Amino acid sequence: MANIAFAIETLPHISEAHSEDDDAFVELYRNFRLDALQADPDAFGSSYEEESQRPRQFWRDRLANPKAVHFIARDAAQDVSCADAWLGMIVLLGPKDMDTTEVVSAKGSPWPMFGANDESTESHTGVATYHITGTFNKPSARGNGIGVALLKAALGYAADGCAELGRKQARVTLTVDQINEAATKLYEKVGFYQVGEEWYTPRPRGMEEQWDRLAVHYEMRATV
Ligand SMILES: CC(C)(COP(=O)(O)OP(=O)(O)OC[C@H]1O[C@@H](n2cnc3c(N)ncnc32)[C@H](O)[C@@H]1OP(=O)(O)O)[C@@H](O)C(=O)NCCC(=O)NCCS
Repeated sequence: MANIAFAIETLPHISEAHSEDDDAFVELYRNFRLDALQADPDAFGSSYEEESQRPRQFWRDRLANPKAVHFIARDAAQDVSCADAWLGMIVLLGPKDMDTTEVVSAKGSPWPMFGANDESTESHTGVATYHITGTFNKPSARGNGIGVALLKAALGYAADGCAELGRKQARVTLTVDQINEAATKLYEKVGFYQVGEEWYTPRPRGMEEQWDRLAVHYEMRATV
């Protein structure tokens, strides 16, 4: 196993006004995500064929979404603005007030549920829900604890966010395909537990044959 020194940081939310730095992050983000979709097409509900056609504004909107935090694992010796520095990424969507038995469906993208215009602020349960999506580590960087470190950073962020909102608990959800053993083991190692499952049809990916797959819903609670 390679021993890689890494650091975790969050990407800044980009603003309406275009700056050169923002444009550079949009490019890095787009390229990293498209690399992920090409490297592990079966790990994601979306596809390279779909996302590579998206206009630049799509990526800008994701980085500008106040309900999305992008956690990047970077090579400790390099600045996050260098493309080679990016080793891994997860996205934390939220907070959102929703029924704590409701899951984020695998049948579509989770992003619309956690849009910039989601005004939900009232909680009847004292629990705010977050959702983790887009987990990907570069194949050459795997096996170094980066997946665990990214998830712990996101869980800590969600707990802090709940404290600021005056909530007692963060409920953090995610979905993983049943055949994805590496990701399942990773999530269970960190403490996620199964809460349900759902059949879904992956979105189009080239000319390959498609078949229904079983998505497993996981969650864990981060207490403030
Ligand atoms: C899943 C993924 C993020 C794990 O990344 P990683 O950098 O290897 O993660 P870590 O080094 O932190 O591994 C932590 C734990 O995950 C589990 N794990 C990781 N890779 C594994 C594998 N190939 N097989 C079985 N378990 C594995 C192990 O429990 C491991 O703990 P251990 O090293 O003590 O055995 C990575 O394999 C990946 O990017 N896969 C493709 C994209 C993907 O599947 N995303 C998830 C979408 S839901």
